[in-house]
Amino acid sequence: MSQSLFKRLSEEDQDEYYELFGEIVMCKPHLATDLDLIRYNINNGTHVYIREAPRVISGSGTTGLRTWEAALFMSNWLLSTYSQELVGKRVLELGTGTGLVSLALLKDRTEVSSLTITDGDSNLIDSLSTNFKLNEIPYPSPRINCHSLWWGQDDVPSSDVILAADVTYDSSVIPSLVQCISDGFRNGAQIALVAATVRNEETLRAFEEELNAQRIRWSIVEECKDPSQLAQTVWYPKVSPEIKLYGLYNDK
Ligand SMILES: C[S@@+](CC[C@H](N)C(=O)[O-])C[C@H]1O[C@@H](n2cnc3c(N)ncnc32)[C@H](O)[C@@H]1O
Repeated sequence: MSQSLFKRLSEEDQDEYYELFGEIVMCKPHLATDLDLIRYNINNGTHVYIREAPRVISGSGTTGLRTWEAALFMSNWLLSTYSQELVGKRVLELGTGTGLVSLALLKDRTEVSSLTITDGDSNLIDSLSTNFKLNEIPYPSPRINCHSLWWGQDDVPSSDVILAADVTYDSSVIPSLVQCISDGFRNGAQIALVAATVRNEETLRAFEEELNAQRIRWSIVEECKDPSQLAQTVWYPKVSPEIKLYGLYNDK
């Protein structure tokens, strides 16, 4: 504010201005690990609240402390295009992180017959109860099951549809991820939908090659070159890379 404008303020307003200025000068910067409460607006009017650490890319041995763009993309796509296909189905989510994809299905009241929400990190699974409360989703519930599941090591529960967002971020995780999906197919799943952010072409090539090696048929169901240009109610950072949604099919 210019000096002449400031002088024209009443004494009371000047005091208030000084107080506000003092608060701004004194306020501490956010720590990377600080938690925020974020409201995600999914396209069809569904809102999902998540308490998360949005400034943490990787911490405490996981990349799941914040919600990633692929989960936003997948939630939006599921609720606007695919929710009817999920009615009556047993759905299994892998690598849920903060849980956006599953929470969006529950908040939208998609009538799945059951939803099993998993991640290799058991602390993330424990944190889900906070996000259930924030979204007024009754839990425990006979339809919802949350537990840790480490790909390629733990038993994969039977399901009809497997969902996973941003689980192809590093080529070291690809073989165990594909193994886990393949186990899921052996236990009844007919399709797996995997939303992948294209941070590194090599990593996705490794994913596609592993699928080919395991003779899993796949296709790109949807792809978006520049998520920040999408006319959606969810917000993507300007620099969001391309996102691809893979469909993997159980032909056996
Ligand atoms: C990049 S985060 C994505 C989280 C969430 N799906 C999203 O898109 O916001 C990857 C998630 O996969 C989980 N994860 C990584 N490797 C895993 C493994 N081998 N077994 C099970 N979960 C794993 C991490 O704990 C993390 O929550």
